[in-house]
Amino acid sequence: MGHADTCIEFDDVVAGYKDFMILNNLSFKVRRGSITLLLGPNGAGKSTVLKTLFGLLRPRHGRVLLDGVDVGGATQKELLGRGIAFVPQGRNLFGQLTVWQNLELGGITLGMKTTHERIPEVLALFPRVKERIHSQASVLSGGEQKQLEIGRALLLRPKLLLIDEPSIGLSPLVVHDVFNLLRKLAAQGTTVLMVEQNVKSALKIADDAIALESGRLVLHRPASELLADPHIERLFLGGAIDSATTA
Ligand SMILES: Nc1ncnc2c1ncn2[C@@H]1O[C@H](COP(=O)(O)OP(=O)(O)OP(=O)(O)O)[C@@H](O)[C@H]1O
Ligand SMILES: [Mg+2]
Repeated sequence: MGHADTCIEFDDVVAGYKDFMILNNLSFKVRRGSITLLLGPNGAGKSTVLKTLFGLLRPRHGRVLLDGVDVGGATQKELLGRGIAFVPQGRNLFGQLTVWQNLELGGITLGMKTTHERIPEVLALFPRVKERIHSQASVLSGGEQKQLEIGRALLLRPKLLLIDEPSIGLSPLVVHDVFNLLRKLAAQGTTVLMVEQNVKSALKIADDAIALESGRLVLHRPASELLADPHIERLFLGGAIDSATTA
């Protein structure tokens, strides 16, 4: 992969919480405009990778590069300015506020004028959310809330979208829609780094897959190759990945 094609690079990154290191000398690259799936058992450090990229954790060692620039320790504001958007695991809306107000807050760094111009574009992607624009966010179904969260991130027209387990609580049809949307974004040049337990469906829309175990890289392969791999079930189970499937 040429330097100019690289969107994200982790170079020997060590990061963790307090004195407890979770990512252990982690190195990998993600190609611009690709969808990369981050796999691994519970506690492997998948969310920690996303949090480190989004400036919520500062690397203790190594470098986190975005478009070739070291962003380790950059502030949230700087990272948003660089075009990173993050949809974290779980529920992340202001439940007491309306759908519209949640979108307005998502665009706070853009200014009101731009935000109001972009809200209709986002709502066009999620008709169910659009119908509930004046509802309190907490009354939306789980799937609708997740769509709203994704929509809120897309307001920023991110260059890099970090998305952590988007399919949780979504019906298969909505998952299909969300995955198709990610494919469309990638085709327009957005880089997507996604954690997803719905591995088989996610591999079908992903370009590459990275797997972690105890904060270490154990696999980095094209998604299509992995889908065709008879040992793939081991990834679903989060068990040890044998040497035949490692990069
Ligand atoms: N805020 C925190 N403070 C201390 N330890 C944490 C914190 N967040 C996560 N950890 C620990 O870091 C390790 C990796 O967590 P992380 O959330 O990155 O895992 P994950 O791969 O996303 O797992 P899951 O599939 O369950 O979401 C876990 O052992 C977890 O307990
Ligand atoms: Mg996680």
